Formats: sequence, structure tokens, C-alpha cells
Amino acid sequence: MSVWTKTDFTRRLSIPYPIIQGPFGRGGSSALLAATVSNAGGLGSYGANDQGPAEITKIAADIRKLTDKPFGMNLWVSTYDAGGETLTTETYERVAKLLEPYYTELKVDVPPMPNSKPQNFDDQVAALIEARPAVFSFVFGIPSPEILRTCREKGIVTVGAASTVDEAVACEQAGVDCVAASGFEAGGHRPSFLKPADESLVGTFSLVPQIADKVKIPVIAAGGIADGRGIVAALTLGADAVQIGTAFLACDESGTSDLHRKLLFQEDAKNTGLSRAYTGRLARGIYHRFAAEMKEHEPLFAKYPAHSWIVAPLRAAALAQGRDDLVALWAGQAATLCRHHKAAELFASLIKETDELLKDRFSQPRKR
Ligand SMILES: Cc1cc2nc3c(=O)[nH]c(=O)nc-3n(C[C@H](O)[C@H](O)[C@H](O)COP(=O)(O)O)c2cc1C
Repeated sequence: MSVWTKTDFTRRLSIPYPIIQGPFGRGGSSALLAATVSNAGGLGSYGANDQGPAEITKIAADIRKLTDKPFGMNLWVSTYDAGGETLTTETYERVAKLLEPYYTELKVDVPPMPNSKPQNFDDQVAALIEARPAVFSFVFGIPSPEILRTCREKGIVTVGAASTVDEAVACEQAGVDCVAASGFEAGGHRPSFLKPADESLVGTFSLVPQIADKVKIPVIAAGGIADGRGIVAALTLGADAVQIGTAFLACDESGTSDLHRKLLFQEDAKNTGLSRAYTGRLARGIYHRFAAEMKEHEPLFAKYPAHSWIVAPLRAAALAQGRDDLVALWAGQAATLCRHHKAAELFASLIKETDELLKDRFSQPRKR
């Protein structure tokens, strides 16, 4: 096995390759995808932010039916923003009025006032710890010292997420085992927790070496990596592992919709942007009509997750009608580098490309 695979991260987890399939919340993950990546020698992950304790227990069991290798499970430490845990009639009516033209266009009724609740993080984490995945990764904050201590006692490796150097330092100081440096190229939500997400937009190329210089814990580069070139660059910048999201999301095994998968392979996937339009929290996806039209109305939005409760039926109706202009299509800036439909083939080509690049690095001029 090549020398590049031996990092603090692979040693810590006793896995062959420093490649993580990024967790996807809200149904983007699947047991099959996580198990396929773990079976190939990487670390498969499952994003369970939307699931309650019983579902978390079942997900872990489902993954274990498909692999006996280490895998990760992911939660969101803060499950709501201030004011987003409940919905007032006033906020509901304001957002419903804003969305009414889209509901009318899709020929579905504006949903009645939702009666939803955010997930309870403590309950989720208790189920996750009980399930004992090899890795517990998290975004939007740092779990309590007690949770981190319990993970350590049970041999669960913890992985925090940082969108800035300060967040990475905070993770290390709290006793988190590893940190994912999430560059703003990444698909999905920005994981920021010390400052607002819009004030924490650092690219992977800048973020990874600065975090690697500041912390001693293993650093995982996330955002904009989709092939061997990205892996070599990330390792050169000081990363101990890479976390790849969009390229795995595009594979048949992921939990996303066929429409989403299809669009990730089209030219338009090069146009991504950050928007709060779908959930109330800032996230990167293919930047289309709904995100663009909602931009100027952002001050009217409800907070996370209350905003998503009113938008969710619109997304579902748009998806059912194949309306790619109104459905959330999370994607990172490197989306047009997606080439593989099978996760095992993507994984094999990541290894081959990295091996070849490192072998040829200094012996050949750069290919153009
Ligand atoms: C659809 C989607 C959902 C995601 N959900 C989560 C999540 O729940 N938790 C998390 O830590 N990261 C989440 N991410 C981030 C990925 O795990 C990964 O870090 C990121 O996609 C890497 O950047 P890339 O998309 O450029 O490869 C999500 C990404 C996408 C595309």
C-alpha cells in the first residue's frame, strides 16, 4: 500500500485509506453508500440529523448488516436557531404569503400551520453512543464535555467541523479528536458556530494549511475535492484525510432523488451558490430560480428549522413534478468533476489517480 495512505487519521481508525464519504443529512445518506465506502477501505458516513433515537438505532443496525468495517454517524449539535424552535402565527403567515405564488404555480395548497418540533440533540446522541459507530462527527457546534468524555470511554472517535481557524482551535481545546476543515466550496450547509456563516466563508485551499498549522489533532479537508488531484492537494496542504461529499452524492447508492443525481452530471451544476431559501440556514446548492428569487426576501424568512417546515411541502411537490427550478439541489463547487455512478468505482478511481499522481509528481510535466 502506498505511503500516502498512512496518516494519523488512518492509524487512529485502523482503516486503509484516508478518504471519508461525507455524511448527508435529510435523506441524502444511505446504509448502502456508507457500507460500500467502508468496505472499499474508506470511512462511510450517515447523516442522521433529521432522525430520532429509534431511527438512529436502526440505521446503525442496517449499516452493520452490510459491513463489519468502521463507519461514522453524524448529527447537528444545534438543532435550531434562536426563534426557530417554534413557529408563531405571525411568522407562519408572513412566510406562507411569500411562498403562495410558488404553491399556486405547482397547483398545491399552501400547507396549514405546521406543528413540528426540532429534534432533541441529547436524545439523538444517547442513541448514537449506544449504537457505537467508530466515528461520531458533528456540525454546528461542539457537544458537552460529558458527551465527549463518554465517547472517549466507549472508543468512539469524535470529529468536529470548522469553517474557520478559530472553530478548529475551539474543537481541539474542547478535546474533540479530529477536525474537518470545511471550505466554502463544499455542498450542503455551512457548519459555522462561532460567527455567522456569511462571516466565515473561507476556501479549502486557505483553510486547511492554516488549521494544520494551528492544531495538533488530525485535520480532514472537506470542500471541492472530487478526484485524485484534490486528494494530493489536500494532503500536501497538511490534511490527514479528505471528506468527499458531492461526488458520492451523485452515485446511485446515495439516498438523494434521481432528479438531483441526474442534474449533478449536467453542465448547469457548475452554477452553485449559497442560499437560506430552503431551510433558513446557509447552504450551497445548484443556484437556480427559487434561490435567486428568494434572495431579496431573506429578512422575511423564519429561522431554522421553522422555515424548512413551511418550505418542505413545496420541495416535495416540486420534486414530484420534476421541477428542478424549485427543488433543493445541494451541490459543491466541484460538482462538474462528478464522473462516477457507482461508489465503488469512484473510490477505486480516487485511489488510482492519487497513486499515479504521487508516482509521477516530479517526473512529468503537468498535463493540460
Ligand atoms: C446533500 C448534502 C448534505 C450534507 N449534509 C451534511 C450533514 O448533515 N452533516 C455534515 O457534517 N455534513 C454534511 N454535508 C457536507 C458533506 O458531508 C461534505 O463535508 C461536503 O459535501 C464536502 O464538500 P464537497 O461537496 O465539495 O465534496 C452535506 C453535503 C451535501 C452535499
